[in-house]
Amino acid sequence: AYSFDDECDYLFKAILIGDSAVGKSNLLSRFARDEFRLDSKPTIGVEFAYRSIKIGDKVIKAQIWDTAGQERFRAITSSYYRGALGALLVYDITRRSTFSNLKKWLHELREYGKSDMVIVLVGNKSDLGHSREVSEEEGQKLAETEGLCFMETSALESLNVEEAFLHMITKIH
Ligand code: GTP
Ligand code: MG
Repeated sequence: AYSFDDECDYLFKAILIGDSAVGKSNLLSRFARDEFRLDSKPTIGVEFAYRSIKIGDKVIKAQIWDTAGQERFRAITSSYYRGALGALLVYDITRRSTFSNLKKWLHELREYGKSDMVIVLVGNKSDLGHSREVSEEEGQKLAETEGLCFMETSALESLNVEEAFLHMITKIH
């Protein structure tokens, strides 16, 4: 681990957004601490996690913000987005409604986010293929239409989680 003051070359902010229970907090805990919880509680307000990554000879510290998907538990939207260079926009491949709601999230992203923000569309819970409601092709197609990167992940199985975050981080730098 690096402390920000002495050993970090760059610090940047990234955010997680998407409906409640799509797995935002577990994606973050998997990436930051390699932890996963089946019984995790809905997020209230804002939480943060940090992770330092070495790219070439530079140490990049990502400060990743996580808030509630549920409207009533959310943090103030404008401050959540402020200064964010990257976003993971997450839906749950087993719940069609979380995919339909991406329109709403994209609208918010474009209203509050920087225009050059790196956005990765993430279809989470790929381990639950038997109850899939959104095909990988649909995710891919939406990403192409909206000009986003796309990946399916499983926070539970630790599949593509590292890749999704690292993709965002390396595209920023
Ligand atoms: P809010 O904080 O309410 O916005 O929800 P969230 O998006 O942070 O969801 P959270 O990470 O709390 O996960 C919700 C539920 O989905 C929990 O029961 C998790 O264990 C489960 N979950 C998260 N990721 C996965 C995954 O990749 N696979 C499976 N099978 N379950 C997952
Ligand atoms: Mg959460």
